[in-house]
Amino acid sequence: MRTPIVAGNWKMNLGNNEAVELARGIAKNCPESGVKVIVAPVSLHLSSVSQALATAPVLLASQNMHWAESGAYTGELAGPMLREFGVRYVILGHSERRQLFGESDELINHKVQSALAQDFRPIICIGETLQEREGGRTRAKVEFQLRAAYAGLNAEQAQRTILAYEPIWAIGTGKTASPEQAQEVHFFLRSVLKDRFDIKTAQALPILYGGSVKPQNFASLISQDDIDGGLVGGASLKVESFLELARIAL
Ligand code: PGA
Repeated sequence: MRTPIVAGNWKMNLGNNEAVELARGIAKNCPESGVKVIVAPVSLHLSSVSQALATAPVLLASQNMHWAESGAYTGELAGPMLREFGVRYVILGHSERRQLFGESDELINHKVQSALAQDFRPIICIGETLQEREGGRTRAKVEFQLRAAYAGLNAEQAQRTILAYEPIWAIGTGKTASPEQAQEVHFFLRSVLKDRFDIKTAQALPILYGGSVKPQNFASLISQDDIDGGLVGGASLKVESFLELARIAL
């Protein structure tokens, strides 16, 4: 069985004090087991957030990572630096990185390979635009992105990843995919994983849904067979709504 996952992507929000306050609030009442709770703060606050989380069962993610382990890459962050603060997960290929910062499928694959080589667990984001959905191209798009992100990986490596299906039209818009729409894509992604790797990988790999997840819509999403949790933006910025999501996932 796949353990449910609730991952909070804080994006470029919260000053250091606010981030520490949020981390303390989550640490205080986070479920001890039955759900994997992950937070991805602004990297600048990783040190203080990891201290605030102390021994709480909350795992740390980075919102991005460069593929090189060090070097002349102004403004970037390397895996070994993230590791020093206890980061174990890295969000890669988020649609904001793809659309606003020009990250290509090749670059994302390079980062995925590097993250795995450095023993991180990548949370790999894929998803279609509204135009692609309306044009009937959702499956083609997500299959293309999935195959590109997993290029060169073997089944053992793939099993160390987490996939996040985030329809771009649902991110930060208040529009969520219906549970049926999301389930249909998640089921399809699992069939692509089976074709690309094997049945064991397809069944083991957690697939999260992301895009306007909130306490009001999460129960019906996570109750779907192939939805294993949520990658949450807006609703991860408040202690109460984030913890509510973690409890719903139990
Ligand atoms: P949202 O963001 O929950 O604010 O829609 C989700 C994401 O971008 O991961």
